[in-house]
Amino acid sequence: MEIPTWPRVPCPEPAVARTLVLGWLLLQVAGASGTSEVVVAYNLTWKSINFKTILEWEPKPINHVYTVRISPRLGNWKSKCFYIRDTECDLTDEIVKDVTQTYRARVLSYPADINDYYGDPPFTDSPEFTPYVDTKLGQAKIQSFKQVGTKLNVTIQDARTLVRRNGTFQSLQDVFGKNLSYTLYYWKASSTGKKTAQTDTNEFLIDVDEGENYCFSVQVAIPSRKANQKSTESSTECTSHEKGMFRGVLLVIVIVAVVAIILTIILSVTLYKCRKVRAGQSGKESSPLHTA
Ligand SMILES: *[C@@H]1O[C@H](CO)[C@@H](O)[C@H](O)[C@H]1NC(C)=O
Ligand SMILES: *[C@@H]1O[C@H](CO)[C@@H](O)[C@H](O)[C@H]1NC(C)=O
Ligand SMILES: *[C@@H]1O[C@H](CO)[C@@H](O)[C@H](O)[C@H]1NC(C)=O
Ligand SMILES: *[C@@H]1O[C@H](CO)[C@@H](O)[C@H](O)[C@H]1NC(C)=O
Repeated sequence: MEIPTWPRVPCPEPAVARTLVLGWLLLQVAGASGTSEVVVAYNLTWKSINFKTILEWEPKPINHVYTVRISPRLGNWKSKCFYIRDTECDLTDEIVKDVTQTYRARVLSYPADINDYYGDPPFTDSPEFTPYVDTKLGQAKIQSFKQVGTKLNVTIQDARTLVRRNGTFQSLQDVFGKNLSYTLYYWKASSTGKKTAQTDTNEFLIDVDEGENYCFSVQVAIPSRKANQKSTESSTECTSHEKGMFRGVLLVIVIVAVVAIILTIILSVTLYKCRKVRAGQSGKESSPLHTA
C-alpha cells in the first residue's frame, strides 16, 4: 500500500518547480519584448568634412527605430530622419544655415511598431557641434601646375562647400577667408630635402632651378584653430622636363636632318652640274672616240 503512494510524494514537487520555471521564463520573454526592446543610442559622433555633416551612433537597431532632432543652442528642435533603421543621419542642410552656430542633436529610440506607442521615447544627446570650428578640412587637391624657366606655379583647388550665401555655393576660401592658409611642400625630384612655402591665397609662384624636375604636395590649414587644424596632404605631383628636353632634342635633330638634306641636294645638284659641264667639255674633246 505504501509503495504506490511513495512515488506520488515527490511528484508534485518537480511539477511545481516546472511551473515556476516556466512562469519565470514567460516573464523574462515578456520583459524582453516589452521594456528592453527599445535600446537607447550611444557613441553619438559628428562626422564632418568641409561642412558635409553626418551624425553617427550605435547600435544597429533590432526591434526599434530612430528619429533625430537638431537645434541651434538657442533655437527650436527640428526632427530629421524619421523612424529610420540606419545609424546615421545627414544633418548638412541644417548646419549650413549658420555655420558659426553651435548645434546639439538628439537621437530618440522608438519601438519598431510605433503605432502602439504613446509617451516620451528614451533618447541620447550628442556632443555640441560648431561647424565653423569643428568641421574637418578635406584632403587638399592640386588644381594645376606649371614650371616655366625658374618659376614653378602651383594652384590649389578651392574646394566647394554646401554652404550657400545669396543662393550660391561658397568655396572654403569664401567661408574661411584669411583664416585659411595654404602650404606647399616641394623638393627636387633628384633629392629628398623638402622645402616649404606658405600663402594665404591658393596660388604659389616659387623660384626653382631651371631644368630641374620638382615634386610637390599641398595642404590647407586654419592656424587659429585649436583642433582639426590641417587637412591631409594632397597626392604628390612632379614636373617633368624629360618630355620638354626630349621634344627640344627631337626638334634639333629634325632641323639638322632637314638642313643636311637640303645641303646634300644643293651639293649634289651643284656637283652634278659641274660634272655635266666637265663631261660636256671632255665630251667635245673626246668626241672622236665616242663617235668612233
Ligand atoms: C564607442 O566609441 C569609442 C570611441 O569612439 C570606442 O572606443 C568604443 O569602442 C565604442 N563603443 C562601442 C561599444 O563600440
Ligand atoms: C599660375 O597659374 C594659374 C593657373 O594656370 C594662373 O591663373 C596664374 O595667372 C598663374 N600665375 C602666374 C604668376 O603665372
Ligand atoms: C547678397 O546680395 C545682395 C544684392 O545682390 C548684396 O547686397 C548682399 O551684400 C549680398 N550678401 C552677401 C552676404 O553676400
Ligand atoms: C577667423 O576665425 C575667427 C574665429 O575662429 C573669427 O572670429 C574670424 O572672424 C575669422 N576671420 C575670418 C576672416 O573669417
